[in-house]
Amino acid sequence: MSRAMRFALLWVAGLAALTFGAAIIVQEQTRAWFERDLSLRANLAVSGARSDLLSSWAADGPRLEAVLGNLAQDERILGASACTTEGLSLARTSAFPAGISCAELIARVRREQPTLASGIWTSNESIPSGNVHIAVLPISEEGVEQGYVVLAQDLSFVARRDAETRLFLLSAFGILAVCASVLTLVASRMSWRDWSEELRRVLRVGGQRKEFQPILSDVRELVDRLMDNEGRAWTPQRLKETLRHKLDGEKVVVLANREPYVHMRAADGTIEVMHPASGLVTALEPILRACSGTWIAHASGTADRETADRQGRLRVPPGAPAEGDGRAARTPNDSYALRRVWLTPEEERGYYYGFANEGLWPLCHIAHARPTFRGEDWLQYRAVNRKFVQRALEEVDSPDPIVLVQDYHFAMAPALIRAALPRANVIMFWHIPWPNAEMFGICPYRNELLEGMLGASILGFHTQLHCNNFLDAVDRFLEARIDRERNAVVHRGRETLVKPYPISVEWPMRQLATVPDARRSRASVFEELGLAEDVRIGVGVDRLDYTKGIEERLLAVERLFERRPEFIGRFTFVQLAAPTRSTIDRYRQLSESVAAIAERINERFASAGWHPLILRREHHEPPTVFRYLRAADLCYVSSLHDGMNLVAKEFVAAREDERGVLVLSQFTGAARELTEALIVNPYNLDEAADALAAALDMPPEEQAARLRSMRSYLAEFNIYGWAGRMLIDAARLRRRDRLIVRLSERIPVAQDAER
Ligand code: F6P
Repeated sequence: MSRAMRFALLWVAGLAALTFGAAIIVQEQTRAWFERDLSLRANLAVSGARSDLLSSWAADGPRLEAVLGNLAQDERILGASACTTEGLSLARTSAFPAGISCAELIARVRREQPTLASGIWTSNESIPSGNVHIAVLPISEEGVEQGYVVLAQDLSFVARRDAETRLFLLSAFGILAVCASVLTLVASRMSWRDWSEELRRVLRVGGQRKEFQPILSDVRELVDRLMDNEGRAWTPQRLKETLRHKLDGEKVVVLANREPYVHMRAADGTIEVMHPASGLVTALEPILRACSGTWIAHASGTADRETADRQGRLRVPPGAPAEGDGRAARTPNDSYALRRVWLTPEEERGYYYGFANEGLWPLCHIAHARPTFRGEDWLQYRAVNRKFVQRALEEVDSPDPIVLVQDYHFAMAPALIRAALPRANVIMFWHIPWPNAEMFGICPYRNELLEGMLGASILGFHTQLHCNNFLDAVDRFLEARIDRERNAVVHRGRETLVKPYPISVEWPMRQLATVPDARRSRASVFEELGLAEDVRIGVGVDRLDYTKGIEERLLAVERLFERRPEFIGRFTFVQLAAPTRSTIDRYRQLSESVAAIAERINERFASAGWHPLILRREHHEPPTVFRYLRAADLCYVSSLHDGMNLVAKEFVAAREDERGVLVLSQFTGAARELTEALIVNPYNLDEAADALAAALDMPPEEQAARLRSMRSYLAEFNIYGWAGRMLIDAARLRRRDRLIVRLSERIPVAQDAER
């Protein structure tokens, strides 16, 4: 529920409680007034008839009855009765309630109010025909009590008036509440607008004074963010609205190496769809679904060609209606176009395995693998970047399209797009860390890479630290002006904003809808792995990559058993490791080393029916991954260096049951946001083992409190917000660029006029 909804509900509930309370108080008060009125009326009636009553008191019954009859003439008086001081009945009118006897009444009066002599005793009684007000008044002569007159008055009108008063009050309060709410809303809207306009005016005026400029640019950005956010959560709908309102509803074109759906020919000849293990895919897929653009990717499946058209296009998710089919227009929200690009084996070797994954990947990660830069890989990298850009240009439909370039595979693409379409909105996001300038400087092609990336209008990293590293590299290696206040680089007359946009996950995660809940996931995982019911489990999910710290993770589990032997036989760590880039030696070595460590630890600690480690070196589809995440007592993400790490966020998203503990490496971008995880240095095996033990010892309330906090963070900072914030920044730049174009078009006109 949105914050505004919650506020409105609270407001209405508060008003209802207030109205209800006020109605009760007013009702009590008016009832007291009515009763006092009835007592007064009884007193008046009896004092008026006092002399007749006295003269007929000792006479025969019919005379006294006649006097009582006169008394009961008033329409509200039901009947009257005369009682002796001993409680005997002298006379009563016919309508006096039969169930009320002199004997009982006088006994009660004497008990409750012995000094009645000059007063009145009253009580409300319930009789079969309704409620009556009984008033007992003494009849005295020369100070000697002769007896009592009892008057019974109808109370039903009080109940009627009560109901009318309540209705009136509720309606009056209701109308008042609606008026007050509308007025408050209008007033707050108006003051928000006034306030923001005033602030913008101050910023305009202040902006002309040089000394205010640094601080004003920060304030301006904050104001723009406030205006854009308006406290609303980021949803697919809001992202679409942002595109429609701020970027004229244009479709986005995404350039990302890994395709979201890979078609594979299975051994039995059928075609299967595979979802690759990639944080980038997890993050971008919901964006494309919301914006229905085109994703241009490397065709990597054995059945990719036969499932696409001649240009390599197909509608995804598989099964979505094709473009031109009426159904595609009806379901624009959930489908988009995938354009596959085929690479020759030489291109793939040079661009993907070579330059991207043996050069840039180790260059950008501090994971102690030496980068390899080969001239031929660099040539292929540039050629493949040109090939992808060519496909992107075929997909765009305006002179200033929005192109989202993803990751280290396409460092040259922004400048190539800019050269072809000078007014394009190129947003580049670098999903991996950016090293410090000294480290980056070892790359023989550093200047070309920087210049390629500076073709983007916006360049995003996960953290401010990586932005700073990039700016330092530009400062050191290029002739460019760096505006550190605005986080911008001006190079060859063009400006690039360099900003942090921490990536996130979909919220709520669509894929979780089909995954069994935590209890059933746990049962199925335990059955699958043959685990005893009382065993606790930890889970790790990664591509088999040396940056993920999988060796360190297994060694930390070993250290846990050494430091806390009571967990031997009672804790199992399950590692799901998806093979990746396996033609590269370093990855093959890693796979062998991880298997050897797991085997050694198992030999050391295993006992009948129990293994400390279960290693699954194979691809797992998302439903399986989420089932394991939901089944786990803890999830350990031990990356040695990671831009963000979305597995950590997926674990938090999966735990709707608020159980389980996240143990997270301090060297991930995620550690800056998921601060309620147990943050560890994965190289410090003692510290990591202690964190694993602390996770297993953690009481359920603490697990829930930590997860609740992280979940509410992810609900707010989700993947739609990630894309939305970049698109809003792009829209702002585009507005400015269009203004510059309009102004420059006017200059010749003015010059003509002068001539
Ligand atoms: O984070 C960088 C990244 O590109 C992720 O998108 C993904 O997890 C991985 O690296 C790419 O892996 P692959 O080489 O299998 O596409």
